[in-house]
Amino acid sequence: MRILGIESSCDETAAAVVTDDRAVLSNVIYSQTLEHLAYSGVVPEIAARAHLEKIDIVVKKAITDAGMTASDLDAVAGTCGPGLIGGVIVGATFAKAMSFSLGIPFIAINHIEAHALCARLTNDVNFPYLLLLASGGHCQICIAHGVEQFEIIGKTLDDSVGESFDKAAKMMDLGYPGGPAVEKLSHNGNPDRFNLPRPLCSKDSLDFSFSGLKTAVRITIEKHIQSEQDKADLCASFQRTVNDVLSYKMSSALCLCKSRNINLDAVVISGGVAANKSIRNSMQLICNRHEVRFCAPPINLCTDNGVMIAWNGVEKARDNKFDDLDFRPRPRWPLKETAA
Ligand code: KG4
Ligand code: ZN
Repeated sequence: MRILGIESSCDETAAAVVTDDRAVLSNVIYSQTLEHLAYSGVVPEIAARAHLEKIDIVVKKAITDAGMTASDLDAVAGTCGPGLIGGVIVGATFAKAMSFSLGIPFIAINHIEAHALCARLTNDVNFPYLLLLASGGHCQICIAHGVEQFEIIGKTLDDSVGESFDKAAKMMDLGYPGGPAVEKLSHNGNPDRFNLPRPLCSKDSLDFSFSGLKTAVRITIEKHIQSEQDKADLCASFQRTVNDVLSYKMSSALCLCKSRNINLDAVVISGGVAANKSIRNSMQLICNRHEVRFCAPPINLCTDNGVMIAWNGVEKARDNKFDDLDFRPRPRWPLKETAA
């Protein structure tokens, strides 16, 4: 089974072909970073237009890179949400049009679920696994019990982790996207210089809150930041703080799983923030301590890509879960939750 995946929910126009025996036949990503750079963030209208300009080129290349023609495809999977609706409509409509013209099934993909399942492709992870989903739009801890079966045990009450990286970077004029910029500068900084708040870390809850951290970063900038070294120190201190919060919550989540006798196959981190090497290292350390396998997709598959969409298509096609062409793109679309 060869499935084409199309992604267009934010600022990457991406397409890939993946097979049901876990071969990635192609992976094409056009990043709109240059289009949005001047605005220090994604401008929805510009994003939608840029997707429209590039989508046919990206999809065509994904099919030719896979060494096939469109008629060799068995199904088309397209992100139908959540995300910036203009871009989602572009990708979803393109995927539906291909499905209609080729006479093959269409699969509507939830972008968050695609991040959540990606490690099953790249690291052969089995259910159940503990998942930290940390992207620009989301921050959740889930126990993944199956496809479309996610038990959400922790979530952010305000900003996502990626958003807090992006806002910190914007306040320090580090450009966009913020996460990689903060990570890069933090290499030259002193993580002990600034003591930033670690919200909700003393509470018996797996929820997150990052808005106080953002305010603390703003106040620190106003009071202390003059030189490049000051910025590097703040980046390092910020990254250390985020790391501490994520580590604390994941440790607590692992204890919860243990108390419920859930036999986890692995701990997985996915979403754009999972590209951060120091966060990956911290998660590895926690997993060593708890004697559980740690997995994260390779860095290029943590941020948005078509491979994860195609793979989610494979997972749904295996269960014969196809969608009608009148499936409506959704700006909001929470993960399908399952009870404990
Ligand atoms: O998954 P993603 O590409 O898009 C969404 O689904 O939101 O995640 C993008 C987010 C952005 O907030 C970006 O700053 C963050 O992931 N990010 C990182 C890194 N690379 C991307 N955050 C921290 N460190 C990184 N290296
Ligand atoms: Zn994403």
